[in-house]
Amino acid sequence: FDAETSRKGSQAPTPPQAVTGIGKKVAKPDYSESKIVLAMVGLPARGKSYLSNKLMIYLKWLEYDVKVFNVGQLRRTRARQKAKESGIKEDHSASFFSHANAEGTLSRDRLAADSLEMLIKWLNEGGNVGIHDATNSTRDRRAKLEARVAKEHGMQLIFLESICNDPAVIAANIALKVGSGDPDYKDFSPGKAKEDFIRRIQEYEKVYETITEPHLSYLRITNVGREVTVSRINGYLSSRIAFYLMNLHLKPRSIYLSRHGESQYNVLQKLGGDSLLSPHGMQYAKALPALIKDNIGDAQLTVWTSTLRRTIQTAEFLDYTKLTWKSLDELDAGVCDGMTYEEIEQAYPDDFANRDEDKFNYRYRGGESYRDVVIRLEPVIMELERQENILIIGHQAILRCLYAYFHHLTQEDLPYVKIPLHTVIKLTPRAYGCDEERYALPITAVNTHRPKPKANEPTVQPSTSRHYFTEVGSA
Ligand code: F6P
Ligand code: PEP
Repeated sequence: FDAETSRKGSQAPTPPQAVTGIGKKVAKPDYSESKIVLAMVGLPARGKSYLSNKLMIYLKWLEYDVKVFNVGQLRRTRARQKAKESGIKEDHSASFFSHANAEGTLSRDRLAADSLEMLIKWLNEGGNVGIHDATNSTRDRRAKLEARVAKEHGMQLIFLESICNDPAVIAANIALKVGSGDPDYKDFSPGKAKEDFIRRIQEYEKVYETITEPHLSYLRITNVGREVTVSRINGYLSSRIAFYLMNLHLKPRSIYLSRHGESQYNVLQKLGGDSLLSPHGMQYAKALPALIKDNIGDAQLTVWTSTLRRTIQTAEFLDYTKLTWKSLDELDAGVCDGMTYEEIEQAYPDDFANRDEDKFNYRYRGGESYRDVVIRLEPVIMELERQENILIIGHQAILRCLYAYFHHLTQEDLPYVKIPLHTVIKLTPRAYGCDEERYALPITAVNTHRPKPKANEPTVQPSTSRHYFTEVGSA
């Protein structure tokens, strides 16, 4: 990546290490050497916060410690404090952001510097990637950030510039800013808010300098994913970030998740295996095409299954392009494969208790943990970001992991997400989170969800989404 390149969909770099441990807790991967300041660059309404948030979710899912430091937020917090202490209400309308406003410029530079200080402190205390979410739109501002980060040993500075010249995307971003109760505009009428925000953008346009400094490490992303420029990026984590950004897009699409139809093993309450569907499972496989067609109409769709027979059989009647992924195979229960929970509890009581105590980390003897599955699903996540409408016919543990990525759930909640049989979950990514609809087909199926014993089951309702639940009329 040393030379300046512009491309999409290239090979991913290889991961740094494997994680070990059997039958009990598995240590978190050691990422302590990774210390990156990722400074956003771009005009307002170019999706900087969207990109910051997407990157944060992806890297956190891979267990990096990531935090966004938003300069606008710091500005508002400070202004509120000042208003409380002195009664002086700072004017943050468009003129505050004008380069001709010396006081405003000084104040904004100070806020950006203070925010960077907090970020560096947080990295020094153990964080891995601190995202400086500001406009950083002049050479002068970038030089200041550079000089400060250079004083820190082992810290890398990468700029991420977002350029957007698609009027529809800009208009949508403006609408989002002024229409979502943004605190900058809480005292404005919607019309006045939009007018002011457009003026603010114009103030920034007057002085905006795209990155041309040849010595800087940077990524430039144009129209979210259409083109990515990578300059002076090296090292595992920064290459990973570049690769992820190359795969993002903003086209409207949905991701449909369904478990296979009820399997013969499900009926017997046995884990794993490679059994075929039960009669009810077959009924589900036959009913699925109508449900999907009703929902998606004539839009294109690709169906992904695992390599296990129960998912392939469930996809049998679907008339779409199909792809089988080994990475989508169910969590490997190792020596417990083919046993029921009761049998495991009798044969391996300590292991069983360990799993209940820390289900995300517990690794089956000769098998996998949820953490292992998250790592093996990384290429699936990457490909999902790149693709449009996808239906994944998978397994309970696998779909929990994918669901947790889209809803940004914690490792504690992830292994207890309810993914019932004979239900399609439709996820539609939005600017801030993911909408969800569930379609439950009225075809009987056993319950395979084993709740967390002792403690109350954690609530796994994601906070960044809207939910709809649809009982489907007939099978
Ligand atoms: O019971 C169905 C199943 O898909 C098993 O094959 C798998 O071991 C299990 O669910 C995973 O769920 P949990 O992690 O809750 O045991
Ligand atoms: C802001 O204050 O909202 C902001 C993004 O700051 P700056 O443009 O100074 O980076």
